[in-house]
Amino acid sequence: MGEGISDYTKFVVDLRRHMWMAGVEMELRRLIWQIAVTGKYISAKIHESNRKLAGLRNVYGEEQLALDRSADEILKNQLHHSGFVRQYASEEQEAIVEIGQGNGKYYVTADPLDGSSLVDTNLSIGTIIGIHRETFLTEGERSMVAALYITYGPLITMVYSAGKGAHEFVLNREGEYVLSQENIRLNEQGSIYSLGGLRKDWTDGHRQFVEFLEGRGYKLRYSGGFVPDINQVLIKKGGIFTYPALKKNPHGKLRLLFELQPMAFIATQAGGMATDGHRDILSIPVEELDQCSPIYIGSSFEIRKASEFLEQAS
Ligand code: AHG
Ligand code: MN
Ligand code: MN
Repeated sequence: MGEGISDYTKFVVDLRRHMWMAGVEMELRRLIWQIAVTGKYISAKIHESNRKLAGLRNVYGEEQLALDRSADEILKNQLHHSGFVRQYASEEQEAIVEIGQGNGKYYVTADPLDGSSLVDTNLSIGTIIGIHRETFLTEGERSMVAALYITYGPLITMVYSAGKGAHEFVLNREGEYVLSQENIRLNEQGSIYSLGGLRKDWTDGHRQFVEFLEGRGYKLRYSGGFVPDINQVLIKKGGIFTYPALKKNPHGKLRLLFELQPMAFIATQAGGMATDGHRDILSIPVEELDQCSPIYIGSSFEIRKASEFLEQAS
């Protein structure tokens, strides 16, 4: 006999119920939910702009940038009316934006659309959000209270942490986020690696680390989208994503505030690690909004191994 409706409602935990049961404070619960809901509107925007649906040439270049800006507008408007946000900083904004009546408790950072260059390939892309108290111009470990990312793939999924573990939800046909994985835990060691940057630009230490992993038969998983690439490491419960320091660019490519801090918060909550090769990402002070940092994020064995190779080579 299939599950009756009552069984279904008994087992389905939606996002708001999960945060309430986890003891997340009320305003933060409502803010996380309001941000997660924008995933529906951003996804609609992706579909709307994906001219292939109308049999036309697809978005790229200027139009693709417009998609980044649309996603940013959707988020900014939602936050403005939330009543809980004081300041908003985004990859798509030149400066920090004062939001609401100036009395909000939270400071929100966004990479509104991560991997937008992949839209025309129909690969997954995402949204990355950091939620801070007091300010975001400090070390993440001092200011971050929550983080979430949304993956626009065959399903829309959302992973969040408010400091009580990392949990995955899927947007169901009824438009609700329902719990799909509670307390995601990364194993001490994995078997996949996701490598950014060009091999010819890697430093010797990084290259030796990669050769170490290859010698152990790690499988390469790299799409060019940070969100789906790190999501794969989390959902497969192990492995490493890295976008390293490059010979010509010692700070790598990814942005500390908008991309790395939120993912480091979530990976750490899932029992993993996130460093720049030497220091925990959450211990690096944010001095400029567009500050970049090398990143090694995922299972602790691989992250510690990377530091060893980088230290030996320095
Ligand atoms: P964004 O679309 O927000 O600018 O981010 C793109 C980033 C990140 O998603 C990904 O890991 C990285 O760019 C890929 O860089 P390469 O194209 O150099 O591999
Ligand atoms: Mn990005
Ligand atoms: Mn982006």
